[in-house]
Amino acid sequence: MISSERIPNNVNLSSNKRLQRALEHWQPKYLQWWREMGPQGFQDYHQVYLRTAVSVDPKGWAHFEYVKLPDYRWGIFLAEPMPDRRINFGQFKGQPVWQEVPGEFRNQLRRLIVTQGDTEPASVEQQRLLGHHCPSLYDLRNLFQVNVEEGRHLWAMVYLLHSYFGRDGRDEAEELLERQSGNRDKPRMLEAFNTPIETWLDFFAFTMFTDRDGKSQLLSLSESSLDPLSRTTRFMLTEESHHMFVGDTGLSRIIERSCQLMKEAGFSEDVRRVGGIDLPTVQKHINFWFSQSLDLHGSEVSSNAANYFTNGLKGRAEEERYRDDHVLTDDVYLLDVIDDSGRLTKREVPMRNALNEVLRDWYVDDCRSGVERWNKKVASHGIDFEFYLPDRKFNRQIGIFAGLHFDPWGRPLGPEEWNRRKGEWLPVPADTEYLKSLQAKPVYEPGRFANYIAPPLRGINQKPIDFEYVRTEA
Ligand SMILES: [Fe+2]
Ligand SMILES: [Fe+2]
Repeated sequence: MISSERIPNNVNLSSNKRLQRALEHWQPKYLQWWREMGPQGFQDYHQVYLRTAVSVDPKGWAHFEYVKLPDYRWGIFLAEPMPDRRINFGQFKGQPVWQEVPGEFRNQLRRLIVTQGDTEPASVEQQRLLGHHCPSLYDLRNLFQVNVEEGRHLWAMVYLLHSYFGRDGRDEAEELLERQSGNRDKPRMLEAFNTPIETWLDFFAFTMFTDRDGKSQLLSLSESSLDPLSRTTRFMLTEESHHMFVGDTGLSRIIERSCQLMKEAGFSEDVRRVGGIDLPTVQKHINFWFSQSLDLHGSEVSSNAANYFTNGLKGRAEEERYRDDHVLTDDVYLLDVIDDSGRLTKREVPMRNALNEVLRDWYVDDCRSGVERWNKKVASHGIDFEFYLPDRKFNRQIGIFAGLHFDPWGRPLGPEEWNRRKGEWLPVPADTEYLKSLQAKPVYEPGRFANYIAPPLRGINQKPIDFEYVRTEA
């Protein structure tokens, strides 16, 4: 069952008996998980036009073809090694990178890999019912593309666990299939991955903002001194960019269509009356998923983050771009905090302890370009509306602002005002009901799109927009 044909790889799987044995044990459980917890209702009779990673050659790493979802070939790929790669941050800076896991960092590295690994199947579980409500075959295919690649990212982490962490690694690999998104007894590890994604607007906001958290985490792991971890995550980033493309353009197409409908209705009309998604509802979903994704970056002050950096396990995103000594022994970060009397103030913390916040800075910046593009689009329609990213204190459940209340512009609010007004800024059940009513009937006809979303500018892999991206077997 284990062959390079079934499991495309560049890790010499066919000559690695130990890894083969481990995977022979794990793969059937993975497939069972995929059937039970993956896209519901599209496993047996549908063929999907998917890309499959078949090498790491930048010029042609993927292959496009129709496949049934359970027949997707989840492969194992590490980006090409960089010759003479050296550790470029922390206390071991300048030394050669590690090809094996040092005993003293085994637990920390395992924890980093398991935490990353846990998010991958979690998002597939969160999105498993969306196929029944798709706005087009093009979007349905993109959903499944994201899903199979998150599955492959799980494989990537499981490869590391099996190859470098012995018995514990094998146990962790099993548990990655046992936890379940939203499950009361065995939930996924991070909160944003326990919220079900029931609407396509949520899906696009999730892939825009939460997959982008994936990008910042993968970038910082790709700096790791553990070379196999670095190479694995570097290749995952290649796939990840498509996920963010799906989110960014999905939101953009909804906004485009809303603007068209507003114009057709003479600007003053409530766009919901003509079957569109009003821009304030889009903003609420930005607020929700952006703030959830900020939480994923962890506490502002973190000794774990400091240890990961000092020991060279996890760097900053694009470490070489920072113009300091990459050791950060004496540097400080000026952090926004709340003092004992509840007032906003600034406090200096050692830079190493503030590295979650540094990564959050990187992330907020990376989100900004999308918002700017959407605003240009709205302006080009002559509509007076501006999207924004909420202040990073807004709606936080983790870190120093958890349990406190702020409006999206960072002004402190009392609990009473927060409860009274939070529905202005976050989706309320009536919004979700409305979105569900829009997607009640899926659109399965090639080239057709639901009324609330504009078609994309172009199709996938140079295929036309009306290509049959998902076809049903007779
Ligand atoms: Fe992923
Ligand atoms: Fe992703």
